[in-house]
Amino acid sequence: HTMLHSTPHAILIRTPSGTAGYQAMADERLLDAGLRAGHCLPYECATGTCGQCRATVLHGQHRDLWPEAPAAAKLRRERGEVLMCQTAACGPLEVALPKGAEQMLEPHCWPARQQARVSGLRLLNADIIELRLELSAPLDFLPGQFVLLGAPGVTGYRAYSMVNHDMPATALTLLIKRKPDGGFSTWLFQTAREGMRVDLFGPLGKATFEADTMQDIVCIAGGSGIAGMMSIVGAIHGQPLRGTRRTDMFFGVRAAHDLFYASELNALAERSNGLLQVTVALSEAQPAPALIERHPALRFAHGFVHEVAMHGLRPALEAPTAFLAGPPVAVDAGIRMLMKQKFPLQRIRFDRFG
Ligand code: FES
Repeated sequence: HTMLHSTPHAILIRTPSGTAGYQAMADERLLDAGLRAGHCLPYECATGTCGQCRATVLHGQHRDLWPEAPAAAKLRRERGEVLMCQTAACGPLEVALPKGAEQMLEPHCWPARQQARVSGLRLLNADIIELRLELSAPLDFLPGQFVLLGAPGVTGYRAYSMVNHDMPATALTLLIKRKPDGGFSTWLFQTAREGMRVDLFGPLGKATFEADTMQDIVCIAGGSGIAGMMSIVGAIHGQPLRGTRRTDMFFGVRAAHDLFYASELNALAERSNGLLQVTVALSEAQPAPALIERHPALRFAHGFVHEVAMHGLRPALEAPTAFLAGPPVAVDAGIRMLMKQKFPLQRIRFDRFG
């Protein structure tokens, strides 16, 4: 990898409360390098969508790695504003963070870069591959976190949530959705084979759930958005008799042939003593009796996942936190539904991806 052989550049970060210095490789994102060096830089998505990593370049040359990033539209370029997750240094660089931008990261989950080996590829339906990666160094992460993946010859990194929840992990399970626009997904569907290496950076993400708090949860997932929620419900309901926390999960797919993880969810629901209630929403078909019989601990409904969730939420849930993930239309509809139900916005976390 060329990046590993290039000379690092000195980066100086100015904040209202002080300065921080670190080194970044020529192709490395300023955000990744800073987090790797242990600095509490602000970020949320790490993939150019949220705009939380906005900073102003004061001195030095830099390169914009993805000028069309969704959050780039909000930048005031004439003032030197950049997204730290989409910017690389071409020499020494001095950057200022906006006021109030310093945040605290969970100190036990510092992200780091490593190489991982493809150890398994399994087609879950026509559009989703389950990718297993063997790590070269064990990884500590919280359920709901994600990693960035890059492949040889592919520009840019994509974010994928972990399905597994074991800590520390020596392998990761991720869901990759087929995309028409190339990048990592095309590489995975067309080129990837067992034994190939990928670049991994993580863990990242703050939409996390700790297994040991009592708070109830609502999960609404469309398609591969189920990934992070598998990690969350696995950590909470995987062991018998762990607390009294209730989870209402709604999993939307188009039809029965798109459904995956049904037996895993059925086993989790069975083991949970009624604390985990899983409803599968089929948007294009009525659930067949055979499907229902095969998964006695799951509920099935016909409809869009947010509509099914609206009717299926247990009234007994106490001040639950909601977590939504999936295609933007599904997530937006879910958020609107929850707000209509007077769900406070600060207890809604979401991950929209195309
Ligand atoms: Fe979200 Fe950079 S961290 S745009």
